[in-house]
Amino acid sequence: MQKTFSFDSDLTVNRLGYGTMQLPGKGIWGASPDPENAANVIVTAIDNGVNFIDTADSYGPLYSNLYLREALHRRPTAKVMVATKVGLTRQGPDIWTPVGAPAYLRQQVELNLMTLGLERLDLLQLHRVDPNYPLADQVGELAAMQKEGKIKHIGLSQVSVAQLGEAQKITPIVSVQNLYNLTNRTDEDVLDYAEAHHMAFIPWFPLATGKLAKSDELKGIAAKYDASPAQIALAWLLRRSDVILPIPGTSNADHAVQNIAALKIELSDADFATLDRLGR
Ligand SMILES: NC(=O)c1ccc[n+]([C@@H]2O[C@H](COP(=O)([O-])OP(=O)(O)OC[C@H]3O[C@@H](n4cnc5c(N)ncnc54)[C@H](OP(=O)(O)O)[C@@H]3O)[C@@H](O)[C@H]2O)c1
Repeated sequence: MQKTFSFDSDLTVNRLGYGTMQLPGKGIWGASPDPENAANVIVTAIDNGVNFIDTADSYGPLYSNLYLREALHRRPTAKVMVATKVGLTRQGPDIWTPVGAPAYLRQQVELNLMTLGLERLDLLQLHRVDPNYPLADQVGELAAMQKEGKIKHIGLSQVSVAQLGEAQKITPIVSVQNLYNLTNRTDEDVLDYAEAHHMAFIPWFPLATGKLAKSDELKGIAAKYDASPAQIALAWLLRRSDVILPIPGTSNADHAVQNIAALKIELSDADFATLDRLGR
């Protein structure tokens, strides 16, 4: 099993990353009830080996980016690849509405740069394709900003194989971020496509929003590895394909430390197969 994934000759990351979505207030809305903890969780993740962090302008909105900026400020020498997103708007707790107007996407790329305190985004993902605008216009605007030097790499989120192919005709697509975990493998075809094209496949809800961390069914195998069910669910993803980069979300520093340690677990063939069956 590969422990790292290379986006290019300069950007190689540990395959177990971190997602900032659990840091803002309830419903991913407003400030964290404990902003100091929010920044500290990210710092802890970095100190324990995380160097791939997924965020989005819509988390909070903007609060996750501000906590990430603070964490990066506290670890100025850490080389961390930041992956952010644009294309989802927020109207309240748990409400998400795609907007793909090119002028809006451009504004949000700029807002990501401002709130993250970066001059260029390593990876900018289109959070959702808005059916009200041609895909070519949405990806085209991001490609224009890539040419301007504001974005290094472009990825897509929650897309089909056909949409990936369409976007690749406009600009290189280096990653795809779709819902995928041990118990939800609907997008197996997208994963296979990513693997065939050496694209990063970034599964969101890698712990099924925490359900897998509490799974009694995983406890037996977890005990064999002196691990937690969460670690086993992540180890299964890591073993499933070398292009998978899980980004578990947590607002708990101990959980962040535990999750990165899943990278050390090498599941046996038999346990991988058992988990595969359990998850179906
Ligand atoms: N592209 C998209 O459309 C999209 C959609 C959703 C999410 N995402 C991204 O994917 C990331 C992951 O998704 P997610 O955070 O929603 O779901 P997740 O990673 O599947 O699960 C997060 C939940 O698991 C719990 N957890 C994490 N580590 C744990 C551990 N070691 N032990 C016990 N519980 C643990 C967390 O609670 P605690 O806080 O208590 O640890 C939290 O409730 C997000 O942070 C975000 O960056 C992207």
